[in-house]
Amino acid sequence: MKAVILYDSRTTNGSTEAIIDAIGLKLAENDVYVEKAKCKALADYGFIRDFDLVILGAPVYYFLVSSQLLGALIQGNLKQNLKRKKIAMFLTCGTPDYMAAVLYLPQLKIHLVRNKILVEQIFPSSVLTESDIIDSFVLDVLSEYHKTMKSRVVSARWTDEAQDWLESVPSFLQSKIKSAAEEYAEEMGYNEITCDVLDAAKDKFGG
Ligand SMILES: Cc1cc2nc3c(=O)[nH]c(=O)nc-3n(C[C@H](O)[C@H](O)[C@H](O)COP(=O)(O)O)c2cc1C
Repeated sequence: MKAVILYDSRTTNGSTEAIIDAIGLKLAENDVYVEKAKCKALADYGFIRDFDLVILGAPVYYFLVSSQLLGALIQGNLKQNLKRKKIAMFLTCGTPDYMAAVLYLPQLKIHLVRNKILVEQIFPSSVLTESDIIDSFVLDVLSEYHKTMKSRVVSARWTDEAQDWLESVPSFLQSKIKSAAEEYAEEMGYNEITCDVLDAAKDKFGG
């Protein structure tokens, strides 16, 4: 398995980079090939296709997630290249986690509504003195990743509503839509195809 940590920070050798190094070490201990890459808003993120797992991480400055990571999602081609990727994310900040989860994580998640987010975490700046928190983040990410991969072998079940919708489309389109939806559910690790899953998968079958 190959993972890339895409991060941003204004501080060279600051807390975000130190956390990333600790995450990288723990991933490597668990036999994951890992690389890190610092975000630039307008960089080309095509290289992400070579990785199975993408971990996004950044600090918060003045109530906003660090600008190059946000910029890469908003102005750059990161979002397109993250399509159908398994993602974990973390933020470092000085705000208590329950508030940061409401104030800051949505700044990233709003751009990733079609992605499977395995784990999301707020790290306080002091986390480096508590390496257990970083280790357990990595172990949670790996466990969620493996769960997703295992559920791929089980075919997704169609809910009655989703099945009714499928039957309502012209019959010559049904088998194409059915396979595309099942392929999407498999990629995302869903074991149930609901109307919401069909809605999210509609890019796959052309709207
Ligand atoms: C200039 C500056 C602004 C900050 N603004 C916020 C903020 O608005 N909310 C917050 O929770 N933490 C804020 N912090 C705390 C940082 O998010 C936190 O210290 C983070 O770990 C810094 O990461 P770095 O060492 O990679 O720069 C700020 C820190 C700095 C230096």
